[in-house]
Amino acid sequence: MSVKVDPMPSSRAVASGECSDPFSLRGRRALITGAGQGIGFALARGLGVAGAELVLNDVDPVRLEQAVATLRGEGFTVNGRCFDVTNGADVERSVAEVERGIGPVDSLINNAGIHRRAPLETMPTERWQAVLDVNLTSAFLVTRAVVGGMIRRRAGKIITICSLNCEVSRPTIANYAAAKGGLKMLTRAMAVEWARHNIQVNGLGPGYIRTAMTGTLTIEAEFDRLICARTPAGRWGESRELVGTAVFLSSRAADFVNGQILYVDGGLLAAL
Ligand SMILES: NC(=O)c1ccc[n+]([C@@H]2O[C@H](COP(=O)([O-])OP(=O)(O)OC[C@H]3O[C@@H](n4cnc5c(N)ncnc54)[C@H](O)[C@@H]3O)[C@@H](O)[C@H]2O)c1
Repeated sequence: MSVKVDPMPSSRAVASGECSDPFSLRGRRALITGAGQGIGFALARGLGVAGAELVLNDVDPVRLEQAVATLRGEGFTVNGRCFDVTNGADVERSVAEVERGIGPVDSLINNAGIHRRAPLETMPTERWQAVLDVNLTSAFLVTRAVVGGMIRRRAGKIITICSLNCEVSRPTIANYAAAKGGLKMLTRAMAVEWARHNIQVNGLGPGYIRTAMTGTLTIEAEFDRLICARTPAGRWGESRELVGTAVFLSSRAADFVNGQILYVDGGLLAAL
């Protein structure tokens, strides 16, 4: 019996980038929260390079406007939407407007996050709550607003920006470690709940990355020495080094990858 082999993928498949490149994001729209600077901005640019249309969010309107203008200037298809990811009503309204006005969100990156350090025994409740709200509850709020459409379309990729602090902690960051530990389990819970709708939810866990969030730490010589000694790679990471993992997790190449936390940390979590 002879088997007919199609020598070339169909032109439609090539146009969508599906057969030719499982990592292509052509034809997909990604919403990235907290994308005005740092990791979120770098991931947005990386997803744009892979072909995605971008919707950037940030709570800071000036930062957001600059980020959108920069990426537009580089030739990407970009829209911006300013909202606070901790405000449920604002999130619902904004996501609905994005999907009505621009189109469906195929990939969501829950990236917005803050750090507010304090010794746990004297940590103000406000500081505890703010970190829980921005790093954990926001992922629930934004994902809830986006996932209805993904369920209807039977497709979606959701990435949560996790942390080494999903696994390990340090003094003065109990609020952040509790939030990121919760985010790890929220990621798994969402993956388990929505896998039957062909939705994949995974975490990307950066190691120590140079951004505004870690800016003060990078210039503290003692902390800098600690990170370089503790990280097998012997250095801090850069935001752009997270891009490949975000593109992978947003792409068809990750269609059967679900509920995982992928650490991009120069080997830190593997070392004693
Ligand atoms: N930098 C690191 O070493 C590192 C390591 C592990 C995890 N992370 C995580 O990566 C993510 C990004 O961190 P980063 O270092 O780029 O921080 P960053 O402070 O440079 O950027 C965070 C962005 O989120 C925005 N944001 C804050 N609160 C918001 C809100 N309520 N609504 C919408 N946007 C809001 C800020 O305006 C800012 O533009 C965070 O979730 C952080 O916890 C960072």
